[in-house]
Amino acid sequence: MNEKKVKVVGICGSLNKNSNTRKALETALLGAQETGAETEVVDLNNYDLPFCDGSKDIGERFPDVKRLSDLMKSSQGLILATPEYHGSFSGVLKNAMDLMGFDEFEGKMIGLIGVSGGSIGGLYALNSLRLIGRALHAWVVPEQVAIPEAWKAFDSDGKPKDEHLAKRLTSVGKTVARFAFLHSSKQSKEFIEAWEEAPKNPGG
Ligand SMILES: Cc1cc2nc3c(=O)[nH]c(=O)nc-3n(C[C@H](O)[C@H](O)[C@H](O)COP(=O)(O)O)c2cc1C
Repeated sequence: MNEKKVKVVGICGSLNKNSNTRKALETALLGAQETGAETEVVDLNNYDLPFCDGSKDIGERFPDVKRLSDLMKSSQGLILATPEYHGSFSGVLKNAMDLMGFDEFEGKMIGLIGVSGGSIGGLYALNSLRLIGRALHAWVVPEQVAIPEAWKAFDSDGKPKDEHLAKRLTSVGKTVARFAFLHSSKQSKEFIEAWEEAPKNPGG
């Protein structure tokens, strides 16, 4: 990458101290790093976030809302990783996203990872997150990883036991970083400007 480095921020939707969601997220971020991207994990244990009450000045009253917002705004790509909780994604992730909005999500590339205790593998959570990406005008990449029976998927160092799973996770990170780069590159911006200046009906 010869232009400004792309930043991919991974948000961990589990507060569990030995979280399998986090292990999966960190593996995916390795893929982003392989492309040259800078990465950062958001552990929501380290953010003192209130419940979203819909007020506009919440970031002024709660510094960690602004801290999260600033970090997300500084990124071009996001990976949202969540445990499956009762057939959807976790409440802590939903609240964090409710505290954010278009400023943090619009135009961003997003990759999704869902882990579950059962055999379905976080698919319901992934489908719900995909809808949220659409609502916030983000670009959710087609690659996603659903990890069933996550309690047996990682070794004691937190690495996926199965090579194929590791590859699928890193490929989510790679795809997010690559498309984030493409989307924010100088050439892409020049193309969009030229497109916007083009006659309404070229050749017509
Ligand atoms: C409140 C709660 C609800 C859950 N609901 C489901 C579920 O609907 N389906 C499922 O397969 N696993 C469910 N699980 C299991 C988690 O998805 C599983 O333990 C996952 O690995 C947790 O992620 P973590 O290790 O990052 O905390 C639930 C766990 C909790 C605590």
